Amino acid sequence: MILMTGGTGLNGRMTISEFARERHPVRVLVRSLAKASEAGLDRTPGVELVEGDMARPESLCAALDRVERVLMISSATPDMVETQCRFIDTCRRARVRHVVKFSGAESGIGYDPAKFRFTRMHEEIEDHLEGSGLAWTHIRPSQFMQVYLREVPDIAAKGVLRLPFADIELSPVDIGDIAKVSFRLLRDGGHEGESLDMTGPEALTMEKIAARISAAIGREIRYVAISPEERRRSLLANGVSVGFADALDEQTAERLKRPAARVYLGTHTVFGVRPTTFAEFAQRHADDFRGGPAA
Ligand SMILES: NC(=O)c1ccc[n+]([C@@H]2O[C@H](COP(=O)([O-])OP(=O)(O)OC[C@H]3O[C@@H](n4cnc5c(N)ncnc54)[C@H](OP(=O)(O)O)[C@@H]3O)[C@@H](O)[C@H]2O)c1
Repeated sequence: MILMTGGTGLNGRMTISEFARERHPVRVLVRSLAKASEAGLDRTPGVELVEGDMARPESLCAALDRVERVLMISSATPDMVETQCRFIDTCRRARVRHVVKFSGAESGIGYDPAKFRFTRMHEEIEDHLEGSGLAWTHIRPSQFMQVYLREVPDIAAKGVLRLPFADIELSPVDIGDIAKVSFRLLRDGGHEGESLDMTGPEALTMEKIAARISAAIGREIRYVAISPEERRRSLLANGVSVGFADALDEQTAERLKRPAARVYLGTHTVFGVRPTTFAEFAQRHADDFRGGPAA
């Protein structure tokens, strides 16, 4: 039996689609069956939904019954360490064999993990899992390409991509690629005791990313380099929490110190997944970048 958490989230939904496409059954832990139903998970073939909360061990008996392998995803929120560490402990007590942690502590990225709260949290959880006695694998993606969909309002209305990344490079990865790796790893097992870094196939400046979005939508999108303070003001004005804005400030400060991005496709190669380029991603989401209803 394979169990996934985070099924109503960005990566979880994509991974469930992979299971459905490959006609492979999967159990999915959700906090709310109603929310899962809104996401269409109750109508996805092969999906068994079980309600429970990763942070509440007493709610997980049915979800963890006869489970051999788990994909563990939860939100990037201040309670992430507590939620995931508790969940790992419950998995151990329920005799799960192998936990695959959806991480974010991509090594070789050049960050000082102590300076960005989410890398720091992922490292803490990874350490806890490694010391738990369970078999473990960490999937460590770089920035998601899907993060650029957050910029749709500026792109669609004003024709600009406004970010505080000066002329540094990043190597974003498509979550569709991560989902394929996750599915194959959960289905076949193995890779125990391994950390699987994943980036996209190109190191790109924001100018190059704007050019690829322009080509996909047939309209010029200009990159405008803004200051971190300007981005912070705009995030807060749009309802982002102070804590999340602080986290993004920490991440930006680290990124600006290291202008060259690493490209690592070893995990794609090992799992036989063709790396999606940003141009392909932008083409696939052209309607979203134009500001269509799905965006
Ligand atoms: N943004 C990036 O570029 C990037 C890059 C690398 C790694 N990451 C990492 O990716 C992870 C987030 O992935 P995502 O974007 O797919 O997540 P997401 O869209 O925020 O979804 C999080 C999922 O976790 C579930 N969840 C949260 N707490 C739970 C709990 N206590 N019990 C059960 N389920 C719970 C949520 O369920 P509900 O629907 O009930 O809330 C939701 O399904 C984070 O760990 C982040 O650090 C992000």
